[in-house]
Amino acid sequence: MARITLRQLLDHAAERSYGVPAFNINNMEQGLAIMQAAKACDAPVIIQASRGARSYANDIMLAKMMEALTEIYPDIPLCVHQDHGNSEATCLSAIRHGFTSVMMDGSLESDAKTAASYDYNVSITERVTRMAHAVGASVEGELGVLGSLESGHGEAEDGHGAEGALSHDQLLTDPEQAVDFAGRTKVDALAIAMGTSHGAYKFSRKPDGDILAMHVIEAIHQKLPNTHLVMHGSSSVPQKLQDVINRFGGEMPQTFGVPVEEIERGIRHGVRKINIDTDCRMAMTGQLRKIASENPSEFDPRKFLKPAMDAMRDLCLDRFERFGTAGNASRIKVLPMDEMARRYAAGELDPRIATARAA
Ligand code: G3H
Ligand code: 13P
Ligand code: ZN
Repeated sequence: MARITLRQLLDHAAERSYGVPAFNINNMEQGLAIMQAAKACDAPVIIQASRGARSYANDIMLAKMMEALTEIYPDIPLCVHQDHGNSEATCLSAIRHGFTSVMMDGSLESDAKTAASYDYNVSITERVTRMAHAVGASVEGELGVLGSLESGHGEAEDGHGAEGALSHDQLLTDPEQAVDFAGRTKVDALAIAMGTSHGAYKFSRKPDGDILAMHVIEAIHQKLPNTHLVMHGSSSVPQKLQDVINRFGGEMPQTFGVPVEEIERGIRHGVRKINIDTDCRMAMTGQLRKIASENPSEFDPRKFLKPAMDAMRDLCLDRFERFGTAGNASRIKVLPMDEMARRYAAGELDPRIATARAA
């Protein structure tokens, strides 16, 4: 029984100054790759499923797979998280299927396309937090809209992401508003906008402070030192992975992601959860293309999926090590959700806004 809540895990990460990658999954191979990497370096894990992943894999399949992973790897604390929940229903059905944490992304309306008002965001996030905390589950909120400071547009990938032009005010989270938002919603973790976006095409050049606004993280952390910050769109889109894909018939135009050293800098300033999906997809796809190209007569899916899984495992292992997650699984004594619910009810887990204001 090693299923952990996001709140307990990120509290531990904050105490010991490390970050935790949150890897997206859609299938068994990705789940196994992450857990193999975690086992190899004693890292606690966040596995997250988007709404797209839930409909692709089926909620029951995902729930049983999480159960299986905790049985196979009983010593690895595993947080199962809903990525970009768009409504109360999405978040509550995730919890019903064994998720220990949900993201209520109220930065967008429930269509996951239209930038929402601040009042809408506060009100829906506060409602979800109240319901989730009653059963001990954790909540991540988002303030600010993900999108590119280069193009002034959000990314609409697989039906998720703001459509149309966005102002810098929308694309950069306001630190004062972040204090108000954390206090009113009582979220356990706060995703912020600072120029990252989902997918492979984040930046047209190696990002500097003009297009990857790390200073926003630092400003928010100064005002909210006790709130766990989350970086979305944090794949690094490594050149090596682009090259493998393109060497074996891919046609990915040159692109740049978030350099790992910038994430390490974020971790020094309160970033505790780092969302990574694209890098894992690219690691797997590179190997699938390589096998298909080198062995055109091959037809056993395992011959494709095993190298793909290994490449994803290596990517995950690297991030566990670079973010300082490695070595921490065995240091955590997992608290059951009931105990977390009791602590919320007793007011022991409120974000310490008063301390933050005094700091
Ligand atoms: O939210 C972004 C993640 O990369 C999930 O993507 O909606 O295609 O599963 P997805
Ligand atoms: P990437 O597309 O950069 O991997 O981001 C994933 C993410 O933020 C999922 O919520
Ligand atoms: Zn995201």
